[in-house]
Amino acid sequence: MYHVLVLHGPNLNLLGQREPGIYGATTLDTINEDLGRVAKELSVKVSSFQSNHEGALVDAIHGTIGNYQGLLINPGAYTHTSIAIRDAIAGVEIPTVEVHLSNIHRREPFRHRSYIAPVAIGQISGFGADSYRLGLLALVEYLRTH
Ligand code: DQA
Repeated sequence: MYHVLVLHGPNLNLLGQREPGIYGATTLDTINEDLGRVAKELSVKVSSFQSNHEGALVDAIHGTIGNYQGLLINPGAYTHTSIAIRDAIAGVEIPTVEVHLSNIHRREPFRHRSYIAPVAIGQISGFGADSYRLGLLALVEYLRTH
């Protein structure tokens, strides 16, 4: 059974109260519960981890070696700044899907660049909490066909 790591970056612990006009009212706990349900339907296992610390996210990515077959990641603001997270994903060579609640391409110019996208299979951005479900579907489909 495929085991997928779901990583949530900085400030995503505040979902539900954080800029709800942009990020919606759904909490991170609800997103994780929904992913658990979808995972069950897909017969895969998911484990979730959130951190506000870049190094903790890098460590979690390193920890996928031998333990996980896929990575679903919302790197939050580190999307636009973190060469370390990008290098970690490239280094462990884990199939990765990048997700965002908001459509980063229709927001401020500094959000348009993703350091993660070039090492990901693809990016799902702009569907609110549903971006995670769509990202998991895409990742599992990729794992089953590659
Ligand atoms: C985000 C978009 C980022 O630009 C922002 O810094 C976040 C959340 C999203 O899910 O829409 O923290 O990754």
